[in-house]
Amino acid sequence: MFIKMPFFNRKRKHESYELSLDHMPEHVAIIMDGNGRWAKKRGLPRVAGHREGMTTIKKIVRHAAKYKIKVLTLYAFSTENWKRPKTEVDYLMKLPAEFLDTYLPELMENHIKVQTIGQLSDLPAHTREAIEMAIEKTSENDGLILNFALNYGGRAEILKAVREIATDVKKDQIKMEDIDEKTFSTYLYTHPLKDPDLLIRTSGEIRISNYLLWQLAYTEFWFTEVLWPDFDENHFEKALFDFQNRKRRYGGV
Ligand code: FPP
Repeated sequence: MFIKMPFFNRKRKHESYELSLDHMPEHVAIIMDGNGRWAKKRGLPRVAGHREGMTTIKKIVRHAAKYKIKVLTLYAFSTENWKRPKTEVDYLMKLPAEFLDTYLPELMENHIKVQTIGQLSDLPAHTREAIEMAIEKTSENDGLILNFALNYGGRAEILKAVREIATDVKKDQIKMEDIDEKTFSTYLYTHPLKDPDLLIRTSGEIRISNYLLWQLAYTEFWFTEVLWPDFDENHFEKALFDFQNRKRRYGGV
């Protein structure tokens, strides 16, 4: 089924993309980059960019749910982000609770299920508790999975899997010869989610920054110069449209 989705934006001329609802990516992963630069351009503190970035999350979640995308994985805080100034880290740690406080009724209404990947145990108690509460409240929802990568690093995730596999081998719970790609992936945070079909990164940076290193093996990448707080439904549709026009060969011909 094809639908034409017009979208009007005061700043830009109207664009529309013919999107096929039958060929939506099932799993979209996003590196939400450029919050700091967005704030700097306006003479605002960096945290103002993160706050505006939270508004973008709301818009994109609504849109992803509307297009029946199954999983949206958002890179909200990496294992490297602890190196930022304490005031910025503290602010970022408050945002999940604020987001969930204001947005939980809408998540429930739209059957959205909150999940996370990453080492939650290292987060401050107030952040962890807010997230755990949302995970629990939305656990029966069967719509879009809104998956926050929090204190997440791809290498740390792979190392965690290796250690757990080694422990299980030692305990004779699995045999060395049974460790294949499928078994390995069951030890990752993302299990049992399908690997991302599409990765979006905003702000003009062209790298993956320790994000989903294993899972992005066959993912289509889409980069834009647009800063995350300026990213909107129209940009998202363009990414989906471009995805639908890619030929995926998975190493075949
Ligand atoms: C990267 O931009 C962004 C982050 C490290 C944080 C992303 C967080 C949000 C969008 C809000 C999180 C909200 C919830 C609900 C979890 P940057 O700061 O590195 O930007 P810069 O490269 O321009 O400095």
